[in-house]
Amino acid sequence: MNKPINSPFRYAGGKFYARSLILKHIPFHSYYVEPFAGGGSIFFAKEKVNKNWLNDIDVALINTYLIIRDTPDKLIQYLSGEKATKERHSYYKNDFKPQNKLEEAARWFYLNRTSYSGIMKPQNCYWGYGDKYSMRPENWPRNILRTSEKLQNVEITCFDFEKVISTVPDNTFLFIDPPYFNADQDKFYTHSFSIDDHYRLCSILKKHNDRIKFLLTYDNSTEVRDLYEWAIEIHDKEWNYTINRTDDQKKGQKKEDNFKGERYKGKEIFILNYDSNAELSQEPKQLVISF
Ligand SMILES: C[S@@+](CC[C@H](N)C(=O)[O-])C[C@H]1O[C@@H](n2cnc3c(N)ncnc32)[C@H](O)[C@@H]1O
Repeated sequence: MNKPINSPFRYAGGKFYARSLILKHIPFHSYYVEPFAGGGSIFFAKEKVNKNWLNDIDVALINTYLIIRDTPDKLIQYLSGEKATKERHSYYKNDFKPQNKLEEAARWFYLNRTSYSGIMKPQNCYWGYGDKYSMRPENWPRNILRTSEKLQNVEITCFDFEKVISTVPDNTFLFIDPPYFNADQDKFYTHSFSIDDHYRLCSILKKHNDRIKFLLTYDNSTEVRDLYEWAIEIHDKEWNYTINRTDDQKKGQKKEDNFKGERYKGKEIFILNYDSNAELSQEPKQLVISF
């Protein structure tokens, strides 16, 4: 199963709304790697190639991917009959003590699908589900099954990014989506990313620059532009996105019944270590999907 699908997860900082912009810049490749996979929205939106590798430092996220890849039916069975309610959310968040990897994945999946923006960090994990705007529990099995099919033969690991970047074979293409440089993304992710980590990422990419191709996405700042002045291309990119009422956490804010969501603009830079015009015109066509 190779067709484009949506990420199985709600994911803060996910690239769902920037998918088509990013896919247009991806050159032909036969080995695809995401060292900061998160919800994997680009991996799920593109065609799989010969070899595919998803990595993230978040142990609970990676466990959920592994359970979905290897034992989807058990996860579906475990979650069958679940209802999306504040009470069940609170139960999974505060009381439920998983006894094994399947139960850990079930807890993570339930909370991810029913929390504000899918944020799983306990201090910021709040109920954020609405029947009209969120994926209902009766549709979870289909989501799990199609994800499992796409994940077959995909390598899934839980390492620090440096280990991944330094071990990929020559000519690998990497889509690299680290936490932002200038935003307080610690509130989203279980593992914090320091300024030193940003510098470490830059130096490992520079070290392997001649043998890999990468597209790196970042918040637009002079620090990042200065760090990557050695890259071949830096593009300013903008896209529209909407935050649904269930993802709008402003306390006490009452929305009209027909409220569909607030519109925002995503603004980032795409940093490439290859000449995208040359790559995209010379190589066999990579699938580009319009959403
Ligand atoms: C911006 S998110 C990736 C979002 C993803 N591209 C998507 O579309 O859903 C950044 C990810 O980096 C992961 N991360 C943070 N520090 C890391 C590290 N040292 N090594 C690998 N992954 C890390 C976080 O757990 C988070 O999932």
